[in-house]
Amino acid sequence: MQDKKKIILEHKKNLKEIKRHNKSYYIDDNPKISDAEYDKIKTNILKLEEKYPYLKTIESIQNIVGYKPLNKFQKIKHLSPMLSLANAFNLDDMKDFKKKINNFLNLKEKNLDLFCEPKIDGISATLIYEKGNLTRGLSRGDGKTGEDILENLKTIKNLPKKLISKNVPDLLEIRCEVYIGKKDFLKLKDKFANPRNAAGGTLRQKDPSETSKIPLKYFAYGFGLISPMIFKTQSEFLREIEKWNFIINPLSEKTTSESEIEKKHTLIEQLRSELDYDIDGLVFKVNDLSLQKRLGNTSNSPRWAIAYKFSAEKATTRIKDISIQVGRTGAITPVAKVEPVTVGGVVVSNATLHNEDEISRKDIRIGDTIKIQRAGDVIPQVVSVDISKRDKNSKKYIFPKKCLCGAETKKEISKSTRKHDAVRRCIKGYECIFTAKEKLKHIVSKEAFNIDGLGKKVIEQFWDLDLIKEPSNIFNLNYNKIKNLEGWGELSINNLKKAIKKSQVISLDKFIYSIGIRHIGQENAKILAGFFSSIKEFSKLFDSKNRKKILINLVDLDGIGETQIHSIENFFLNKTNTRIIEDLINRLNIKNYVAQNSNGKFSNKKLMFTGGFKNMSRSEAKEVAENNGGKVLGSISKKLDYLVVGESKPTKSKIEQAKQLNVKIILEKDWNKILNS
Ligand code: IVH
Repeated sequence: MQDKKKIILEHKKNLKEIKRHNKSYYIDDNPKISDAEYDKIKTNILKLEEKYPYLKTIESIQNIVGYKPLNKFQKIKHLSPMLSLANAFNLDDMKDFKKKINNFLNLKEKNLDLFCEPKIDGISATLIYEKGNLTRGLSRGDGKTGEDILENLKTIKNLPKKLISKNVPDLLEIRCEVYIGKKDFLKLKDKFANPRNAAGGTLRQKDPSETSKIPLKYFAYGFGLISPMIFKTQSEFLREIEKWNFIINPLSEKTTSESEIEKKHTLIEQLRSELDYDIDGLVFKVNDLSLQKRLGNTSNSPRWAIAYKFSAEKATTRIKDISIQVGRTGAITPVAKVEPVTVGGVVVSNATLHNEDEISRKDIRIGDTIKIQRAGDVIPQVVSVDISKRDKNSKKYIFPKKCLCGAETKKEISKSTRKHDAVRRCIKGYECIFTAKEKLKHIVSKEAFNIDGLGKKVIEQFWDLDLIKEPSNIFNLNYNKIKNLEGWGELSINNLKKAIKKSQVISLDKFIYSIGIRHIGQENAKILAGFFSSIKEFSKLFDSKNRKKILINLVDLDGIGETQIHSIENFFLNKTNTRIIEDLINRLNIKNYVAQNSNGKFSNKKLMFTGGFKNMSRSEAKEVAENNGGKVLGSISKKLDYLVVGESKPTKSKIEQAKQLNVKIILEKDWNKILNS
């Protein structure tokens, strides 16, 4: 009996200790012991509980730490963001890509040198070498912050840990794609759905010795920060780093003309199944690095590169039913429920029908035999109908005129084309529960509040349980209720609390993007944030009198047109929207907008352009001005600091107006001088 008491006491002491370590690890983010030591304590407790099962009736480790510690890596900010790539699906898209580049750079180049590489479908990582030594290795993470996976990356054979060459720059950041060979994957196929998942899972193993058991491979394809910069072209960069023992994809080469691009695409697509790694397209990059620099990036992807995807995988199936879904802008999207069919290794049971017009155009009906395709991560689409297999009694599909919430739907008339939109929308905004739910999913998404652990599925769950009905509820969650839900433990709740707390501090541009005003994407949100500067100024939109004045002033902003202004007005005219957004603001700490470069050549200056420039397009001039801290306006007013006049056909009346308002005029030659100074 005495023994039993002693054992119980020891068990209690052990549990107390493990709880203490849990707190340091999960809550304070400051573990006091190594993972191995933690595991030892945990194993001892488990053994004791197994030996004396009565302990479990008092308190069991299974209940307090009924989870394994999550793989947890230190988060580190990237030296330069890891972006994604825009997609091309056919030669016309590729022609368009080249045309846009020529326009941006104001080049008349027919055969711009592009460098072509296979797009490896693996996991991206970045490797930092300081004075030739591999000192850091990060996962992509959200593109801005990655996870420290250096030890796991070091297990990759052939990945240089030290660079021995005279001309290695002091700071060298190499971007690469890590993968598992198709043959090696066969040994792992019971554990993972595809090689990509297997590579991701393996690379994020907490224990590097586990990672080393799986043969990970990699291809180096690009760079982040390099100092001093010694390369002039992408081809030269790859050639050189190959000499430093990095693995480069052997199918990479320079392609110039459109016929070469298409030839290479067809050739590699034919080779695709024979390669030991998955590829999902080709990446074409402007070869000249100085042109890459001039082209820069949009919010998420570089202007100098594109992924020319391989054709989508197709399959034939039958439509069982057609239902509608409501998107965050109220868009009603018809979805075909199809007999499950495997397309490119994934079982598909839903396919999008896009919109009402698309259904009428293709005369798609319930019961039809259809061809569907799946390209990359996008939702599978219905490509065509096999009319010969149609049932004689089938009827035309009548598109519902009401939203799932019962409200009226409307097809708007586009402000720019004056034509009816193809998409029908619910008119209720946040008042429609279907739209509201989607808006919440948008708010928590990566590009918006970026709340880890609060994904689409959790939003659905919390919505059904009345935990979150509108954005401000996110910051006032009933954790006591969540605690009792299946799948939610102490650890996940603490992580969620942390992620939510972190997201409460948000920049003005992200906030504007998050609230989901139609036609206000990330780029426009930045322009608006630059205009308003603070949430105080932005909040003036809530007041109808102020709003009118502000909306008139928005016309001045380059990039904001009638469509956007009309959409902002509509958003704030809706009382439910304004109440919901005001409640949200009250929960947040919204940081003033800081221009990219607050000590640039044009910081705090407002510029406007007229006429064409010899060496750069209007878009590039705008980008240069903004990168130097300036704001670009679309019309002349007293607020303007500079009117920059290009030599080719400037508008005389604008110059006159500027003179009258004492706005400083910068001629093209002076503009070039300022930029080169
Ligand atoms: S260049 C986006 N080249 O594709 C910045 N990316 O969708 C330039 N990828 O995150 C990327 N093979 O992980 C580039 N030859 C290649 C690539 C490649 C695979 C991945 C990479 C990137 C993603 C973008």
